Amino acid sequence: MSHEISQGDRPAPSPSTFDNTGKLAAILIGVAAAVAGFLMYRFNPFLNNAASVQGVYVDNLFGIATGIGTVVFVLVQGLLLYSIIRFHRQPGDDEDGPPIHGNTRLEIVWTIIPAVVVFILSILSYQVLAANERPAANELVVEVRGLQYAWQFYYPDYDITSADLHLPVDRQTRLRLRSNDVIHSFWVPEFRIKKDVMPDRVTETLITPIDEGVYPIVCAELCGAAHAAMRANVVVESDGSFQQWVASQGAAVAREAQAAKADPMAKGRQLFNQNGCNACHVLTDENAAGQVGPALDGIGVGAGAQATGQTVEEYIHASIVAPNDYIVEGYPANVMPGTYGTSIPEADLEALVDYLLAQQ
Ligand code: CUA
Repeated sequence: MSHEISQGDRPAPSPSTFDNTGKLAAILIGVAAAVAGFLMYRFNPFLNNAASVQGVYVDNLFGIATGIGTVVFVLVQGLLLYSIIRFHRQPGDDEDGPPIHGNTRLEIVWTIIPAVVVFILSILSYQVLAANERPAANELVVEVRGLQYAWQFYYPDYDITSADLHLPVDRQTRLRLRSNDVIHSFWVPEFRIKKDVMPDRVTETLITPIDEGVYPIVCAELCGAAHAAMRANVVVESDGSFQQWVASQGAAVAREAQAAKADPMAKGRQLFNQNGCNACHVLTDENAAGQVGPALDGIGVGAGAQATGQTVEEYIHASIVAPNDYIVEGYPANVMPGTYGTSIPEADLEALVDYLLAQQ
């Protein structure tokens, strides 16, 4: 194995890499790399609005990683640029470069440095992971349901179900996530939290919001035709406002019970939105404007039933539980989820069918 630069019987190349100009350039590039790396770490322009304790840890780790990346980038590009300018071929020079076969010292150095960097980053990553998974006393628990194509949030402490997530600021919340159908992914960019939502197991994640405000919840796993419409909001508010909201939700439940007596369609109307039907269908009665599936205005009149020879009620029921049995002309098959027959209890299904039957 050859080691130091081998130059055969050629004259030493001029100028030498290790003369004073080379040393000065190396020092300047090194200083520039260190300054750029520190600035990138300190004033990271890519992430700067973390709204949770966990997000601040993640951003700090990300800042360190991009800072180190910036040092390497400026060092490599700086030395490359310096070499191109100083050692490029002179006019009339048609000699080959020196035949270099390897440099053991250099190879050891450029193996050790990345190994040390990776080792440090892995320790820091472990610390962030451990901190972000540390349980706290007095956690608020919220059960998150993902379904095609909506989010549902259930608060077991208060027996409240909501379409938006409300969280008190500065209190650790444990989200237990579960899907009704396919794999979704719960993502709040401002919290730096993204967690898969699975049909066959409960996944958990912790959030401690630190800034009041309203942030988007995004589904980050392609889950079907209306994946892009599967959004909700998280409202981070003071503990007082949160308690007020809890109280208003309790009152809303009582109001709903009253409304159900006064309006037999209330249940079906609620199910229509809870199950995400509004994400894909037009229904003027509920201000739904989804464009993925056929419009449902006037479905109770029975045009579809005439095409299949069923009663209108049978037709609507079948269209929910077995949507591929009959596809309205102009719409593709296999777009509407075929799981509603199992995910919606039969009594709810009847209320939903009754509600749609009333759309004349
Ligand atoms: Cu749910 Cu994408």
